[in-house]
Amino acid sequence: MPELSFTAPFGQLSAAHMFALAARRHMHRFGTRVEHFAEVAINARLMARTNPLARFREPITAVLVEPRLRGVRTALLVGVTVLAGLITYGQVRTTVAAPPTLRSIHPAPPAEITFRGRTMTLTGLDNPLRQHPESIAAYSAEGKRVYYQNCLPCHGDHLDGQGHYAVGFNPLPANFQDNGTIAQLTESFVFWRIAKGGPGLPREGAPWNSAMPRWEDFLSEREIWSVTLFLYDQTGWKPRTWETHE
Ligand code: HEC
Repeated sequence: MPELSFTAPFGQLSAAHMFALAARRHMHRFGTRVEHFAEVAINARLMARTNPLARFREPITAVLVEPRLRGVRTALLVGVTVLAGLITYGQVRTTVAAPPTLRSIHPAPPAEITFRGRTMTLTGLDNPLRQHPESIAAYSAEGKRVYYQNCLPCHGDHLDGQGHYAVGFNPLPANFQDNGTIAQLTESFVFWRIAKGGPGLPREGAPWNSAMPRWEDFLSEREIWSVTLFLYDQTGWKPRTWETHE
C-alpha cells in the first residue's frame, strides 16, 4: 500500500483521482499517451450509441431533429448565442466608476512591531545608522546595493516608481521622488513599510492589494536601515523628524 500522501496528496479522494493515478501509472509503465486515452473515450461513446436501451440521448436527439420541436431548437440557438454574447460583453466592457472606497495612503503605523521575533518600538525611533556620521557614505552605498538588487524592478532606476514591472501593479509602486511619499514620512515609518510590505498594512489601508513585498524575510535590519538611508540620500528629501511630527 503506497503512502497516503501519494495517493491522496490534497486530502481529497474521488473516482477521478483514482483513475488519474492509474492512468499516470499506465503511461509511465507502458508508454501510453493521452491520445490513446482519447481513443478509448471515443470508442466507449461509439459503442454506447448502439445500445438499444440508452435513454439519455433521446430528448437531445428529439430537440435536434424533430420538426415539431423547431421552436425549441430556434429558441435554444438564439438563447445560447445571446447569453454567450452578454457574458463576453460583460467581461470586456470598461468602466469609469471610481474605486469603491477611499483608502488611506499613509495609515498610522503601529507603535511597536516585532522584527524577526524581536520587539521594536517605532515611536520616537530614528535611523540608528545616522549615529555614525563618518560611515554614512558606506551605509548609503550598502543601501544602494540593496536597492538595485531588490527594489529596482518596481520602484525604478530613478526611484520614481517606474520600474519595468510597475505597470502591472495597482496600486502603483511608490514614487520616492514625489513629495507625497518618503518626504512626508519618518524613517521608522519607512522601515516599517519595507519590513512588513503590503501584507503588513492595517485595515484602514485597505483595499490595497499592494504588491510591496515583506522584506523582513529577506533583508537584515541593517540592510533595511541602509536602503532607507539610500532613498533619502538619493532623492535629497529629509526624513520627517519626531519633533515636528508631534
Ligand atoms: C513587486 C514590486 C515591489 C518591489 C520589488 C518593492 N516594492 Fe516597495 N512598493 C511597491 C508597491 C506596489 C508600493 C505601493 C503600495 C504600498 O504602499 O504598499 C510600494 C510602497 C513602498 C513604500 C511605501 C511608500 C509610502 O509612501 O508609503 C516603501 C518605503 C517601499 N515601497 C520601499 C521599497 C524598498 C526599499 C524595496 C526594496 C527593498 C521595495 N520597496 C521593493 C512594490 C514593490
